[in-house]
Amino acid sequence: MATIGIDINIAKTILEEGNLVAIPTETVYGLAGNAFNVDAVAKIFKAKNRPTFDPLIVHVDSFERLSEFTEELPAKAAQLTAAFWPGPLTILLKKKAIISDLVTAGLDTVAVRMPRHALTRELLKSLDFPLAAPSANPFGYISPTSAQHVNQQLGDKIEYILDGGECGVGLESTIVSFENEVPKILRLGGISTEEIEAVIGKVEVNSHSSSQPQAPGMLKSHYAPKKRILMIDALERVTEDFSTYGYLGFNVFDRRFKLENQILLSESENLNEAAKNLFGGLRALDQNPNINAIVVTFVPEKGLGRAINDRLRRATAK
Ligand code: TXA
Ligand code: MG
Repeated sequence: MATIGIDINIAKTILEEGNLVAIPTETVYGLAGNAFNVDAVAKIFKAKNRPTFDPLIVHVDSFERLSEFTEELPAKAAQLTAAFWPGPLTILLKKKAIISDLVTAGLDTVAVRMPRHALTRELLKSLDFPLAAPSANPFGYISPTSAQHVNQQLGDKIEYILDGGECGVGLESTIVSFENEVPKILRLGGISTEEIEAVIGKVEVNSHSSSQPQAPGMLKSHYAPKKRILMIDALERVTEDFSTYGYLGFNVFDRRFKLENQILLSESENLNEAAKNLFGGLRALDQNPNINAIVVTFVPEKGLGRAINDRLRRATAK
């Protein structure tokens, strides 16, 4: 198992040696390595068992660092970063040669964001390089929102997990591209579409579920638990006894399941709270030995609810 701690100097040393550290962010925990060191980046793919066609997000703490490896921001990207950085917004920018093709899966753009978590910001400030970091989960599984989640699944692959407590947002960052200066949302996430449109006007959302993604990583099936998972309306077609199924509800329990096998995302119907509880709730049901399948239900399709529903759609996709 990895050591869990709050010592930035330990994390810094490991990263400078070209090894990996799990880091807290406001969205989910990341599995970080030196983005300028191709060997370190290769270790990320290996530890996650992630296909190399799926590019990584690079994390920075300043615009000076950003300009070392990206071209100028398009005007609307600058407006968005002014509004939401540090925070759960990732933008795609034209990359410079210092970023290897492994980070970007051969694309000419690199995904970048400035995270908000204080510990990770302090760590980034202490380093001479930015951090490439995908979510710290085995490829395809539920993203981790605590140091313990990371340890359960990648603990034997890394030395150190920087413990920043539970993630405040709980959903990955929103990804926006600016091809031909036209902003497009490629992944719904911690900044809602409404918030983005309030800054730069109407934006196309193109987070299609696809099993052959043209923007890599937008895989149809993702964020999936190990147990069977189904949408509540699919229960009608279940012929076996489902009294041993678990339920991840939004704000109300469902009488068809045992009370102790149910988790609610937000009794007060707060979508931010629901987002924060989503991955932990799915994971708890997946690990509950008394249930043999997980039933989920959509939340209202607004604000962070859109991103929650996106994750639920992918988690239940075949
Ligand atoms: O909140 C987050 O974004 C977290 C934390 C750790 O920062 N990171 C995260 O990384 O969610 P990951 O690797 O799980 O998801 C990154 C997504 C992938 O779907 C990948 O395909 C997409 O970003 N991506 C990265 N670079 C891209 C590029 N140049 N063009 C299109 N998609 C890109
Ligand atoms: Mg991920």
